[in-house]
Amino acid sequence: MPVISLVNTTHFDFGAVTQLPNALKKLGVSRPFLVSDPGLTAAGLTARVQASAGEVAFVGLYDQTPANPDEASVLTALDAYRAAGADGLVALGGGSPMDLAKAVGLLATHDGPLERLGASARGGKHIGKIAPLIAIPTTSGTGSEVSVGAVVILANGRKETIISPHLIPPISLCDPELTLGLPARITAATGMDAVTHCIEAVLVPFSNPPLEAIGYDGVERAVAEGHLQRAVADGSDRDARYQMMMASLEGALAFAKGLGAVHALSHSCGRLPGHRLHHGTLNALFLPGVLRFSEGAAPEKYTRLKRAFGLSPAADLADAVEDLNRKLGLPATLKELGVTSDQIDDIVAYAVSDLAHLTALKRPSRDEYAALAMALL
Ligand SMILES: [Fe+2]
Repeated sequence: MPVISLVNTTHFDFGAVTQLPNALKKLGVSRPFLVSDPGLTAAGLTARVQASAGEVAFVGLYDQTPANPDEASVLTALDAYRAAGADGLVALGGGSPMDLAKAVGLLATHDGPLERLGASARGGKHIGKIAPLIAIPTTSGTGSEVSVGAVVILANGRKETIISPHLIPPISLCDPELTLGLPARITAATGMDAVTHCIEAVLVPFSNPPLEAIGYDGVERAVAEGHLQRAVADGSDRDARYQMMMASLEGALAFAKGLGAVHALSHSCGRLPGHRLHHGTLNALFLPGVLRFSEGAAPEKYTRLKRAFGLSPAADLADAVEDLNRKLGLPATLKELGVTSDQIDDIVAYAVSDLAHLTALKRPSRDEYAALAMALL
């Protein structure tokens, strides 16, 4: 089985989850606590991982992670973790359970509140080693299993990114088998999250050729080679599932460089009260407009991205993303998601303050953010 040691140790293949007992032993965890979500429990995956721990039984479970985790759910899980006398975490799920588990591991070892530790307050400098954490992704998009970040909606309403190298799970078990049952719509949306990570990371205007090479490879693997389209068309396509899990991993490795205006907008919309909009769906929606807006700012990178899309240099990258979204069955407007024009000011006010805005290839002004969002209503 491939063992990838870059930022952590990642066991990557069908059956990787069987490495759980060894991983727990390696991290010295004897009383593990499992984090997942209601969908995973209903699908039987929570029980499957509980049964994979071998002799080391889980001492507790929090499986109520909401989509886009908030501070209240982190604190509830933290209470359960402490009450169980646990000494380490296993995060099973997409970005939400993984990020919630990171936040639990952080607060189990550091003084809160989360606001103090968030990137807005330059909290990374307060962050040291957190509770031992093993990540087991069940979607191919977020890449949180190798990323330095965790995104949590704070009690003050802010969708905060917490960043520290200590938030990278020391061991990840990437088992494409766990993604075989994902519905087409989630496969499409999470896949576009991975593609957006790769594209935005490449376009961040700092030079980091090794990370950019990983980003280009992720786009090519997902789009030009057709694995995203195949995984959406046939969820049981094992090769497509394997390759999309790899593209997701690559996206998160690449975005150690940073992200851009697409993520500033999707983070903003993802915290709109009463919506809980899917992060990957939002990225897919905003990506074409932001690519058009930034056109001309990095022509060589656009040419290479077109190649990774399987396009000729004369083709239009933004048009190709729109076409891909359509083929994947993703929505074409914010209106379809229930966003209304009276929310634009709120969306813009947050987007300009989001961390991803700072590393955008071309930083939109408030008016330009408003135009990007209005065009999708
Ligand atoms: Fe993302």
